[in-house]
Amino acid sequence: MTPVTPSVTVRVPAKVNLRLAVGPAQADGYHELVNVFQAVSLYDEVTVTAARPGQRLAAVTLDGANGEGLSGVPLDRTNLAARAAECLARATGADAAVDIRLSKNIPVAGGMAGGSADAAGALLACDTLWGTGLPEAELSRLAAELGSDVPFALLGGTAVGTGRGERLTPLTCQGVFHWVFALADAGLSTAEVYRTYDRLRPDAPPPKPDPDLERALARGDAEALGRALANDLQPPALALRRELADTLSAGRNAGALGAIVSGSGPTCAFLAADEAHTRRIAAALRDRGACARTVHAYGPVPGAQVLS
Ligand code: C5P
Repeated sequence: MTPVTPSVTVRVPAKVNLRLAVGPAQADGYHELVNVFQAVSLYDEVTVTAARPGQRLAAVTLDGANGEGLSGVPLDRTNLAARAAECLARATGADAAVDIRLSKNIPVAGGMAGGSADAAGALLACDTLWGTGLPEAELSRLAAELGSDVPFALLGGTAVGTGRGERLTPLTCQGVFHWVFALADAGLSTAEVYRTYDRLRPDAPPPKPDPDLERALARGDAEALGRALANDLQPPALALRRELADTLSAGRNAGALGAIVSGSGPTCAFLAADEAHTRRIAAALRDRGACARTVHAYGPVPGAQVLS
């Protein structure tokens, strides 16, 4: 297939989980979820370029805006972005040989779906580069094959995911919510956090939505949203990384409206009243030495978008 443009860049947001209700493990090892996502203004950029002559596979290169924490990212075909390119090529008959450059801002293995964002970005970028033009529903189906959080990275906004978290329904959300994220030096394995959850909660009930949370979003009520934040993966993340309890209490003491481990962690998310409040929370976290670094972001923002 002839490339439509030689190079395409897609910008993809991170997510924070506003509610992550986790049911018992199913026969396939996955858990049934009620997973409320919000896309936030912390982005990776994925640039795909038509392959050089003789190149046969998708090749991945990296740069990190902060030049740190990228050591856990594979550069071979196991990278989720390379797998996304191959998955789209298989589905459309395109040639999977493509150069993929990842500019990473989203923490690696941080519970903010950075790998899923890169996969969503690669899907959309390759779809544009190759001119395959798949309908949104079909891209979303391929995204779900790559990982439970990948469809949301395409969609963005605020949405609830059921099933494994991949069956999405957008939620009404008014206004802007301001977040501080406390990033850790080392990531946590999502699979290990789920295994620890199974040990701690062998009797987990089926996951349920929370009407209070949905009302808070619909009204743009940050205080009510702060009260409604909930994450069943927080106890196992704290069991694996005890110091996160100090991080959470440092943010709470700084007046955060809500303090929660993001997804499977170790990133902690703090909901602020406004932008000035984010600076006070971040300063308190730094003064306490409660995390490696902080970033401020707001949500909701749109999902993956083509920049060029
Ligand atoms: O779907 P994804 O590959 O992103 O999931 C990463 C890991 O998280 C899985 O290998 C599984 O251990 C766990 N997981 C789960 N139940 C879900 C989603 C993810 O157990 N609904």
